[in-house]
Amino acid sequence: MMDTSTRIDVERVLGRLDELAAVGAIPETTGVARLALSDADRAGRDLVVSWMHDLGLDIRVDAIGNVAGVWGGREPNAHPVMCGSHIDTVKTGGRYDGAYGVLAGLEVIESMIERGVRPRRPIAVAFFTDEEGARYAPDMLGSLVFVGGMTVESARDVVGNDGTVLGAELDRIGYAGPLPCPMVVPHAYVELHVEQGPVLEAEGFTIGAVTGVQGISWQELTFAGQSNHAGTTPMAMRHDAGYVAARVATHVRELVSRIGGVQVGTVGAIELHPNLVNVVAAQAKMTVDLRNTDDDVLREAERELARFVERAAHDEGVTVESRQLARFEPVRFEDRLVDLVETSARAFGYKVRRLPSGAGHDAQMLARLCPAAMIFVPSHDGLSHNVAEHTDPDDLAAGINVLFDVLLQLAEES
Ligand code: HGY
Ligand code: MN
Ligand code: MN
Repeated sequence: MMDTSTRIDVERVLGRLDELAAVGAIPETTGVARLALSDADRAGRDLVVSWMHDLGLDIRVDAIGNVAGVWGGREPNAHPVMCGSHIDTVKTGGRYDGAYGVLAGLEVIESMIERGVRPRRPIAVAFFTDEEGARYAPDMLGSLVFVGGMTVESARDVVGNDGTVLGAELDRIGYAGPLPCPMVVPHAYVELHVEQGPVLEAEGFTIGAVTGVQGISWQELTFAGQSNHAGTTPMAMRHDAGYVAARVATHVRELVSRIGGVQVGTVGAIELHPNLVNVVAAQAKMTVDLRNTDDDVLREAERELARFVERAAHDEGVTVESRQLARFEPVRFEDRLVDLVETSARAFGYKVRRLPSGAGHDAQMLARLCPAAMIFVPSHDGLSHNVAEHTDPDDLAAGINVLFDVLLQLAEES
């Protein structure tokens, strides 16, 4: 462990977290809504870029709106060590999801500058476009494009669930940058993030050395039936799209319970049309999110669900269209970096354990380009994608201390 007797300034981080959380703040809560490429996202981006500017970072923006601030390095042309996360949120977002990792990166650089620490390699702090996928699917879209998993052109053509086109919104907020993807190839990438689950807090750990990210499958199902009168139409004559969607939603829970283990399944969105009390639904559009650390089990769950969907639609005389919104296989982070996180945490005296990430993260995409790792800190009550999301300041500080130390070690590597 490098001598990091230097300490970060957690009050400064808390102040910035408050300032950023004021952008897109949800009234009467501590939560935020900064959907990707919205005005709130632009304002959040502008604020973080102003902090990068104040630190004298070399600020770079690529063609899909990913932003990186690069600093220092005794060898300025060496591949930088990168940290960061995202600043877009879901509609009921917490103030830590993503923002914490970006502001922690700023804090590490500012602390190094204040203490005259000048690592061999430059250090970059980035925020990636549309990590949440809550407006434009898939999630981790910006980092996927960054590593070449999706072209800029196809990403710009994505139509959001609000009917807007990603490229037009990116242009509108002024973050379609001049640089290609990847605008920089990191020596390594380390993402600090709140766990968003219950494990660390429940088991009394301060730091999570994240071993990888589970597989993710998102699909959108559109059922087309026949609108009809709720009072006059005999049940045998109905083609009720809403009924089929409801059957699928309950089946997802039954399927996941039957599979057991770490399998999870979520129906987060169901829209009926015309969505009226006295009209049999003509159309139902719904999403299904399935995840598992084991891709074989996840694929079997997808196949079983597809069979049920076909049967349920057929029985009701309803047609179905399925659209894959996201499909990412499980990712394992490089053991060497996971060891680094674990050893660093122990050297600080923090209780640390290894665990996989239940949530998707930009780090799973960066792992395609360079060695990547993640550091988790506890989420109070395991809550996230909820305005009440909270992490104690001491835990926030612990995470940033480990990030500082791991980045410094990586930045000294030849
Ligand atoms: O969906 C996810 O896991 C992440 O929040 N984008
Ligand atoms: Mn996140
Ligand atoms: Mn999230």
